[in-house]
Amino acid sequence: MDGIAQFKEAQKQSWVHFTPFEAITTPTAARLVKHAGITPGMKVLDVACGTGVVAITAARLDATVTALDLTPQLLDRAKENARLAEVQVKWYEGDVEHLPFADGQFDAVLSQFGHMFAPRPEVALAEMLRVLKPGGTIAFSTWPPEFLVGQTGALAARYAPPPLPGVAPPMLWGDPKIIGKRFGNGVENVRYQRAIMAVPALSLAHFRGNVERAAGPVIKLIETLAATDPARLESFRQEFDAIVAPYFADNLVRQDYLMTAAKKL
Ligand SMILES: C[S@@+](CC[C@H](N)C(=O)[O-])C[C@H]1O[C@@H](n2cnc3c(N)ncnc32)[C@H](O)[C@@H]1O
Repeated sequence: MDGIAQFKEAQKQSWVHFTPFEAITTPTAARLVKHAGITPGMKVLDVACGTGVVAITAARLDATVTALDLTPQLLDRAKENARLAEVQVKWYEGDVEHLPFADGQFDAVLSQFGHMFAPRPEVALAEMLRVLKPGGTIAFSTWPPEFLVGQTGALAARYAPPPLPGVAPPMLWGDPKIIGKRFGNGVENVRYQRAIMAVPALSLAHFRGNVERAAGPVIKLIETLAATDPARLESFRQEFDAIVAPYFADNLVRQDYLMTAAKKL
């Protein structure tokens, strides 16, 4: 298996525990669907759909929705959510870097904190634009490097082994300058909007405990540090709490994020 395939296999294992976070990605899903301007009858694709929060929200607006994710356990939960929400979505297990759809099929291609985890941004973006109709909307939510999630992501990267060659840091997808460069001249009318995900937490340690149990890339790091270097784990935890502290008030942790939307030329 080459490095990129190994990386994706590790991603697939690491996101298995993400389901509890659907409670906090549900409200942000509604905002992304609004930012993308989804209306009844549109053909919509949600890539890296996880437990289906964006896909199901779009389907509830009477869009015709297809959704795809790498992690089969999350797709099982997505199907259960669609059944409970009483909407229809077509679900696919797959990779955003290799979408199993013909060119120009969709009116909108969305991804909430999802496509940013594909290792090669240019490959993921080319695929998302390929399956979009000319004039169609690409829209995604991502974590800016300068706020809480970007900073804790950079911290985790410092404590983890060096990334495999060819794997881009996911948080670069949160920087409008880099997004603009990646779009190149493939799109027009790029619109950015900042928003806040408010995460309930009972203390800094409580917040960190939930992240350590459910946030894909952090889980493996904690396991490895706990087994090999408990003092380094302690230092990671102290640095993590110091980053989060200024964002914690009234039993909420404020996670600032960025929504982007653009029209394919
Ligand atoms: C932070 S979760 C977001 C899930 C969902 N969009 C939400 O908002 O709740 C990241 C998701 O990206 C998926 N993912 C990571 N790499 C992927 C890839 N190359 N192709 C498709 N999905 C991928 C994971 O399986 C996981 O479901």
